[in-house]
Amino acid sequence: MAQVDLNHVTKEFKEIKAVQDVNLSVADQEFLVLLGPSGCGKTTTLRMVAGLEELSSGSIEIGNRDVTWLPPKDRDIAMVFQNYALYPHMTVFENMAFGLKLRKVSRTDIERRVHEAAEILGLNGLLTRRPKELSGGQRQRVALGRAIVREPKAFLMDEPLSNLDAKLRTQTRVELKRLHQRLGATVIYVTHDQTEAMTLGDRIVVMREGVVQQVDTPDGIYHRPANTFVATFVGTPPMNLFPATIERQSGRVVANIENQTMDLPNELQQAASKLTGNQAIIGIRPEDIVFAEGGQLPSGYIPLDAMIRLVEPMGHEIIAHLDIGSSECVVRTSNEWKGSAGNSARIGLASSRLHIFDPESERSLLYS
Ligand SMILES: Nc1ncnc2c1ncn2[C@@H]1O[C@H](COP(=O)(O)OP(=O)(O)OP(=O)(O)O)[C@@H](O)[C@H]1O
Ligand SMILES: [Mg+2]
Repeated sequence: MAQVDLNHVTKEFKEIKAVQDVNLSVADQEFLVLLGPSGCGKTTTLRMVAGLEELSSGSIEIGNRDVTWLPPKDRDIAMVFQNYALYPHMTVFENMAFGLKLRKVSRTDIERRVHEAAEILGLNGLLTRRPKELSGGQRQRVALGRAIVREPKAFLMDEPLSNLDAKLRTQTRVELKRLHQRLGATVIYVTHDQTEAMTLGDRIVVMREGVVQQVDTPDGIYHRPANTFVATFVGTPPMNLFPATIERQSGRVVANIENQTMDLPNELQQAASKLTGNQAIIGIRPEDIVFAEGGQLPSGYIPLDAMIRLVEPMGHEIIAHLDIGSSECVVRTSNEWKGSAGNSARIGLASSRLHIFDPESERSLLYS
């Protein structure tokens, strides 16, 4: 296994800047996830690492060897695609062995590697079947098996679960995680699914329009987003963002949200001094807001008055949609909450969970 380094990697397709100046260092045995919306350059980045796409500029190293101009076959990596075409006329064994035969691996080595991979993937009883006699999840595992038997330096996976239905996806996701723990492999994994990214990744790279927005652990991406894009791309429902005017009142910095004044906690007092103007965006996640009970809020919560517009019971919890003036606010609350649409409500924002962004740059003033 090996470390993978991308240095100033850029890819332009005529006027389209698909990937712009990406710098990444994927550690040996790390599971790194590239996450972002459709068209943000995830697949293009992965294809450049694989050698299937030429770089416009920059360089790539695998295991401290410059592979920028090496053909895919000399890079010692295995790729699992979204559309993993298995050979329909071959058995599971033959599908897994095929690439090794091409590489003139000895018969005994092929036998050993395929059986090891089949063992890891739970395909042992299926080796003589053909793809059409398998379920979607089993086919997916054969596609993974083809990559595993190669014993590559790194695995590149492009949305490998996207052809599976929701239940199988969750199940295969868990299997993938276990597989990574067992193989200790370096993996670069592309997805636009934030749950996959959060559950699988040691670190997540969030991309937008070819540009890396943040590289961090799942915890860091969720709790310390570097800008409003990351803050709202990860998390369901997404983080609430309120446009605010920043004012100074007797030495304190306060935020005015929809004509309600809110004293800012100390961390934000300092951060607000970095604002370029007097406008800010205050952010808070739906689970970091509570409803007042009997007009009372627990300590550490900043009050705001809102109107309940819509209530969504989800079974295990309730998602409440509120209006604060013309700003929308979403709250995740307990399924015992009794609020109903059309009523007013007093809410409290957890002061230790507030975020503040500069509306000009959209950057977090706390975490960037
Ligand atoms: N061969 C190509 N020729 C021209 N433009 C391309 C080519 N391949 C990709 N692009 C463009 O480059 C950008 C990035 O594409 P890419 O396939 O890397 O996105 P992605 O993040 O993988 O998206 P998705 O989640 O939809 O798979 C897009 O604007 C896309 O249209
Ligand atoms: Mg893609």
